[in-house]
Amino acid sequence: MDIGNGKKLVFVEMKMLHWPDSMATYLTGDNILFSNDAFGQHFAVGGLFNDTADQCLLEKEAMKYYANILNPFSSFVTKKLEEIKSLGLPIDVIAPSHGVIWRKDPLSIFGKYAEWADDYQEDQLTIVYDTMWEGTAAIAHEIAEAAARVSPGTAVKVFNCSKADKNEMMTEVFRSRAVAVGSPTVGNDILTSVSSTIHFMKSLKFRSKRAAAFGCYGWSGESVKILKERLADAGFLVADESIRSMWKPNDEELASAEPLVRALLG
Ligand SMILES: Cc1cc2nc3c(=O)[nH]c(=O)nc-3n(C[C@H](O)[C@H](O)[C@H](O)COP(=O)(O)O)c2cc1C
Repeated sequence: MDIGNGKKLVFVEMKMLHWPDSMATYLTGDNILFSNDAFGQHFAVGGLFNDTADQCLLEKEAMKYYANILNPFSSFVTKKLEEIKSLGLPIDVIAPSHGVIWRKDPLSIFGKYAEWADDYQEDQLTIVYDTMWEGTAAIAHEIAEAAARVSPGTAVKVFNCSKADKNEMMTEVFRSRAVAVGSPTVGNDILTSVSSTIHFMKSLKFRSKRAAAFGCYGWSGESVKILKERLADAGFLVADESIRSMWKPNDEELASAEPLVRALLG
């Protein structure tokens, strides 16, 4: 569309990034891509532009946005990045509908999106659990310590999912190559906090990540079996190894954290 001064608006469909009717607009002459939701964050900086932001915080917020909003649409992201590149438009500025305006090295966020859309993972294990009387928490922390011994280079994050910020937790799952998820058995089931966490993970369509289950019980002890089923249903590659402890984990059960970690990280 010609808008005078020799400038034009070029419209690019951005279907499912992240709504069906999303559309980006490119302004020729000034070479600005108004990218709508893509490349955005739920984050604001006083200086408006990416080079005025704390760079660590900005990368974390951009990744959090990708993990929690765009990850389910990664196949669309990959295709759209290729399509935008193939248009051969010079891009000096990327201005999303929210978040910083990318003016310094604007194509760096293109590069990040290409990485994140490609089943992204770092050498990280995220452990997510809830507990009533700390038995399942003790297993969670033993798994973390076993990971530090077995695989010292692996970053380990531990979350009590009834207390943690859900979007922060999902960002750490996004970065991870494996997760361990724990719940005690309650009413022949798992705790609702853990159930909703797995439900959220499923909706974000993580792929190619390993998972293992653990938890305490008093008598019937269904939680580990249910966790394994739910994690498989959520798209994780579930390990046979698990830890299932009556009331409180004993030394032998805690020692099985090492084989569980090897199955996850080996
Ligand atoms: C309300 C309630 C319901 C429970 N239901 C079951 C159950 O159906 N089957 C079972 O094996 N244990 C059941 N338990 C026992 C817990 O699983 C057991 O105390 C476990 O050790 C708690 O683990 P935690 O220390 O991680 O909270 C129940 C406990 C409570 C408080």
